[in-house]
Amino acid sequence: MGCLTAGEQKYSRGLEGVIAAISSISCIDGEEGHLIYRGYPIEVLAKYSTYEETAFLLLKGHLPNKKEYEEFKQQLKENAKLHPGMIDVITKFMMDAHPMDVIRSMVSLMGVFCPDKKEHTLEAKYQKAIRVTAKLPTMIAAFHRLREGKEIIDPDPNLNYAENFLYMMTGEKPDELSAKVLDIALILHAEHGMNASTFSGMVTASSLSDIYSAITSAIGTLKGPLHGGANERVMHMLDEIGSLENVKSYIENALAEKKKIMGFGHRVYKAYDPRAKILKDWAYKLCEMKGDLMHFKMGEEIEKIMIEKVGKKGIYPNVDFYSGLVYTHLGIPRDIFTPVFAMARSIGWSAHIVEYMEANRIYRPRAIYNGPIDLEYKPIEERE
Ligand SMILES: CC(C)(COP(=O)(O)OP(=O)(O)OC[C@H]1O[C@@H](n2cnc3c(N)ncnc32)[C@H](O)[C@@H]1OP(=O)(O)O)[C@@H](O)C(=O)NCCC(=O)NCCS
Repeated sequence: MGCLTAGEQKYSRGLEGVIAAISSISCIDGEEGHLIYRGYPIEVLAKYSTYEETAFLLLKGHLPNKKEYEEFKQQLKENAKLHPGMIDVITKFMMDAHPMDVIRSMVSLMGVFCPDKKEHTLEAKYQKAIRVTAKLPTMIAAFHRLREGKEIIDPDPNLNYAENFLYMMTGEKPDELSAKVLDIALILHAEHGMNASTFSGMVTASSLSDIYSAITSAIGTLKGPLHGGANERVMHMLDEIGSLENVKSYIENALAEKKKIMGFGHRVYKAYDPRAKILKDWAYKLCEMKGDLMHFKMGEEIEKIMIEKVGKKGIYPNVDFYSGLVYTHLGIPRDIFTPVFAMARSIGWSAHIVEYMEANRIYRPRAIYNGPIDLEYKPIEERE
């Protein structure tokens, strides 16, 4: 028998350290705490760019010129509306469904309502990727309003991507700072190298399946608590702590009991996550404007104690520590934190999927076999 058996091949649990692609989309320096998208440091993009411009950069590989930028924004706006058939379906979902299940199903449904499903050119792939990114905010907001017994709000073509999401969620045009903070959070979540959801999207695409199927896989992977979802748990932790005075004892007890503090630590970053650094400043501005600095002050205190106690182990705040705070103060419900992550990341997923498909080879790893061989097949009557 030619089965692969233990000892013959090296097995990497969780594929740790396995190189599965060559990519020019982003680079993470976990030791120094740097992140670049297509050559541009994340700090520069957060300072000068917009989500739409960064999305173009990630997908197409260069910063858009004025004409490309206007056309791209227009494409996002034109594709933001949901097909009437999709609206029909979303209204029939159970209203206690998790919003991640909703968007996973809705992106899958996009394949059914796609006008150019048989087109597989590079341009058609870009088009489909843009459609997914354009429609995700509309789907999330539509489901949220339906479950609250409210009317769905159509996207407003006069608003940008971040503004439109907040508008479709609440029915009110957001103030400038709220829209800006969400825009920055979307930039910071748009891409992060070869993580589990990106990889699962690429695996699906590598069979020469389509963009909708690949992003459906990616959303399904992001849904798990080991990937998306830590920011939601940060907010639960803040609820549990309850007040600034309780922070010290809570964190010290949790560390003594070897519990993980949510929003800290990262598989790749062993320094301060650069995204957390940027978001922290914006979280402060937002909380100050809303006149409620309680969560922020608790966050700062947790950070101070954690760095003192476990900073030397390379444990610092990650992006989820401050994103939960930001989303909460933008009025976004907790079960919509991960869908917002998916909405931002859809463009990073698409960039990797399209890049891999251009030099495609189907992913086909192997497993070490540790089961029996040569068992005797007994007829069913003779089995115990
Ligand atoms: C992100 C995470 C899964 C990375 O895990 P990892 O790379 O496998 O790191 P490990 O779990 O091996 O941790 C290494 C050490 O740091 C400690 N550590 C890691 N994250 C910690 C945290 N959030 N709080 C307290 N201690 C932590 C571990 O207890 C371990 O200590 P030890 O060496 O004394 O046993 C982990 O840090 C974690 O669970 N963080 C909290 C959840 C979170 O914020 N996730 C969002 C990630 S963006």
